[in-house]
Amino acid sequence: MKILITGGAGFIGGNFVYYMLANHSDYEIVCLDKLTYAGNLSTLAGVMNNKMFKFVKGDIADKKFVDELFSKEKFDACINFAAESHVDRSIEDPQIFLITNIIGTQVLMDACRFNGNIRYHQVSTDEVYGDLPLDRPDLMFTEDTPIHTSSPYSSSKAGADLLVLAYYRTYGLPVTISRCSNNYGPYHFPEKLIPLMITRALADETLPVYGDGKNVRDWLYVEDHCHAIDLILHNGRIGEVYNVGGHNEMSNIDIVKLILKKLDKPESLIKYVTDRKGHDRRYAIDPAKIHRELGWLPQTKFADGIEKTIAWYLDNKKWWQDIISGDYRNYYDKMYSKR
Ligand code: NAD
Ligand code: TYD
Repeated sequence: MKILITGGAGFIGGNFVYYMLANHSDYEIVCLDKLTYAGNLSTLAGVMNNKMFKFVKGDIADKKFVDELFSKEKFDACINFAAESHVDRSIEDPQIFLITNIIGTQVLMDACRFNGNIRYHQVSTDEVYGDLPLDRPDLMFTEDTPIHTSSPYSSSKAGADLLVLAYYRTYGLPVTISRCSNNYGPYHFPEKLIPLMITRALADETLPVYGDGKNVRDWLYVEDHCHAIDLILHNGRIGEVYNVGGHNEMSNIDIVKLILKKLDKPESLIKYVTDRKGHDRRYAIDPAKIHRELGWLPQTKFADGIEKTIAWYLDNKKWWQDIISGDYRNYYDKMYSKR
């Protein structure tokens, strides 16, 4: 099998590249990534010399480029991780979110359609369901929860999801969608809550907590998400949506305090700052469908996952310090010119 993984130089896509090469050593993996600020070739350094792996730099919204790639490579499946993924950036400047997340999805699906109806999987998010109240712990997102978005980011992901389902119904494209809760783990870009707090705490810098810090997210270790996508790709029912989450709801402030405790840093580093506009209160996934149909269950408990994640950031300081200092932009030329 030859699989196109888009956005593989980012956090989840990168972890998925490693997961697939480790678990399906007979598969050819091609990674297409634009290397935006969030894409980092050093994330893929460990597979660059693997003969089953190839990296291609390009934009999923560039139709000419994508069409040429598909006619040259003859993929059996396409898994789309590529996206603008940060809510705060979408609030500052929404347009690139619509171009990459919606137009990019359409360009990829058309390429699948015109190259033999290639199997397509869309990596989506629980944020398409909007948010839940804090005082109703009984409520969770199921696949039937109406789409009800809050941010330009989640709206662009929802737009893409609707398009994916339309391509199934209208053209019979063999699609699936996964909607996962917040991931954490290695290679997480340090603009997101957990890596931001780890890296800032290590530098004894203040930790900016939005609003009252009581917003709740449902955290899943990234490898569990990779396993879920692998199962959906091979055994998922075509045309279906699968929620992915591990029943691990935590408030932001509890996460921040836990990180401080693990790093032996004082809580005086915490600084409450102005809330995010339209800030979603609570996310919570009901993963009953993927458990029932595909036997998926999360393997990593939060206590172990956060331990592993902190250890990874301690052991891989160069990875995130290069990013923070901006040097990572030069990394592509250095790595790619050798190939
Ligand atoms: P990320 O921001 O870390 O990585 C995104 C990657 O996509 C980067 O490598 C970037 O260079 C690449 N990219 C961006 N625009 C591109 C374009 N036009 N063409 C080609 N490549 C492009 O994101 P992530 O956190 O790894 O998220 C991956 C996917 O998973 C996204 O679709 C996101 O919506 C979804 N998701 C993320 C989470 C989470 O907690 N991070 C949870 C659920 C779903
Ligand atoms: P984030 O990692 O951006 O993921 P998302 O908003 O997509 O769930 O943020 C997770 C939570 O942490 C969210 O409630 C916003 C909050 N947050 C802070 O309090 N401070 C910060 O500096 C960041 C980046 C996030």
